[in-house]
Amino acid sequence: MYSKLDTNPVTACDKEDSQNLPKVNNYKDVVLEEKHEAESPNNLKNEKVVPEFYNKAQKYWSEVPATVNGMLGGLGYISAIDIQGSRIFLRELKVPGKKLALDCGAGIGRVSRNLLIPMFNTVDLVEQDAAFAEKAREICTSESVCRNSLGEIYNMGLQEFSPIHKYDLIWSQWVLGHLTDPDLVAFFRRMRLSLQPGAYFCIKENVSTSKNVIKDDEDSSITRPLESYERYLKEAGFRIVRKVRQQNFPKGLFPVYMIACKSQLNGGN
Ligand SMILES: C[S@@+](CC[C@H](N)C(=O)[O-])C[C@H]1O[C@@H](n2cnc3c(N)ncnc32)[C@H](O)[C@@H]1O
Repeated sequence: MYSKLDTNPVTACDKEDSQNLPKVNNYKDVVLEEKHEAESPNNLKNEKVVPEFYNKAQKYWSEVPATVNGMLGGLGYISAIDIQGSRIFLRELKVPGKKLALDCGAGIGRVSRNLLIPMFNTVDLVEQDAAFAEKAREICTSESVCRNSLGEIYNMGLQEFSPIHKYDLIWSQWVLGHLTDPDLVAFFRRMRLSLQPGAYFCIKENVSTSKNVIKDDEDSSITRPLESYERYLKEAGFRIVRKVRQQNFPKGLFPVYMIACKSQLNGGN
């Protein structure tokens, strides 16, 4: 437990539109809410800030167990509800191609194993932590996994990742708060250019309940308002096709939204 604000901290419970906010990927913390204009990694005023932002996150995750509980900050029991919500979301989207999907910030392959591999012939993963990537390989190739298969595992940060394939679906869940705003937009652009015609890019993320970005110093991440994600997706050339709030999560967590988008450039792709 820690307090992270430098000046005039306001606890989440003090704010009109906030709850006490443990978050899915950091359940033990009570998140405080405030703008961090001076020290945000997104401001890029200090050349040291951005590498530090990524290094701290890397260190944080290197100390987390390679388990579903670890991935979900102690809330492993919500995994089934989460996967079910995502499955319904994708079913309603009617994803056109079924050959190749990409799981971004895949962790130990929880989403690949339970959501994507059953739907796509092959699934590639990107994950920055080597131990998680290795665990993902194990989980996604175990005998209980259906006939579909694991493809490439790219062991690197999303801020550096440039796909060499074209995907029928790109899924990115509970990881984008680890990217700075400029890296996020650049990542969105690269994903847009890596979609097959008509394919979807989907994100599933915590969002803040106010217009503020909420910074978490412990895992070195930020929680953005929904509008920020919408704005950055559009800035990167996406058209938002569907937006759904995940239902049936425990009370007190940040709202979680799934957003599906398509390229609006190159004739709509
Ligand atoms: C909350 S876990 C979510 C894992 C998975 N998406 C899931 O829903 O089970 C966040 C994951 O993002 C990874 N991660 C953090 N920063 C990253 C980055 N810059 N690039 C790629 N992965 C990152 C962490 O190592 C961790 O595996």
